[in-house]
Amino acid sequence: MRIATRVAELRAHLPRGGVGFVPTMGYLHRGHLALVERARAENPFVAVSIFVNPLQFGPGEDFHRYPRDLERDRALLEEAGVDLLFAPSVEEMYPKGFSTRVQVEGPLTALWEGEVRPGHFQGVATVVARLFLLVGPDRAYFGEKDYQQLLVIRKMVRDLGFPLEVVGVPTVREEDGLALSSRNVYLSPETRKKATVLYRALLAMREAAREGLGVGEALERGEAVLKEVPEFKKDYLAIVHPETLLPLSRFVPGARGIVAGRFPEARLIDNLEVYP
Ligand code: PAJ
Repeated sequence: MRIATRVAELRAHLPRGGVGFVPTMGYLHRGHLALVERARAENPFVAVSIFVNPLQFGPGEDFHRYPRDLERDRALLEEAGVDLLFAPSVEEMYPKGFSTRVQVEGPLTALWEGEVRPGHFQGVATVVARLFLLVGPDRAYFGEKDYQQLLVIRKMVRDLGFPLEVVGVPTVREEDGLALSSRNVYLSPETRKKATVLYRALLAMREAAREGLGVGEALERGEAVLKEVPEFKKDYLAIVHPETLLPLSRFVPGARGIVAGRFPEARLIDNLEVYP
């Protein structure tokens, strides 16, 4: 595996065509590796980026303490058969005077995560657009774990006409249902046990849908599960359209349950298809 930290090196090591790309912020886990495996299966050449993007963190968020371990990540990617790792510095990605921003407008970025984390999706869209232009992938891989992010990237790619396919990969979970996240390392052992509450609320809503209950009743079931864990401070729990993310009043195929909130140590998000 080659490693590039400068844009010029990155360019020198990239082939033309057949490039799969997995952007990450590092501190890799099996969720990231599922994206890499899928990219490996579908492309002759796989590039991964590791860059903790300051633009997508708000003031008071965890940019400075975000977990980092480049040596461990490098070994995992090497083992996974990755061809090229791009691990740029902040100065390399955003040279002095960098002032361009990519903004996807509308409810897709205004709602949910966009409301709780103003500017977050602008930071994500800006870095991902820049990475797409630097790497020039044919396919790019994103996790359903960050479902709203996946939709924002799809929209940006469609609107701006990036010549690549966005591939969504199902969420990888721990045995008890907790979605894998680099931020799970923040959790104390007691909170770690309680953190399954997000997934359990989503399952309760899916179960309600399967029983033929309406959206309102399904949400009540989900809320009841969240109430069992008072340490979890909910930001939102909703049942939304799988493409627009607008709240639904009746179930439609592919309807998504989405949930987010804070434990004392970390903010967690999750989502699940709640209607087949
Ligand atoms: P990061 O949180 O490192 O995630 C990188 C990719 O891994 C994202 O597409 C995310 O959805 C996916 N991922 C994370 N946990 C997952 C899980 N449990 N199962 C499946 N996929 C999972 O998301 C980002 O970084 C950044 O916003 C980025 C897109 C790199 C832009 O900075």
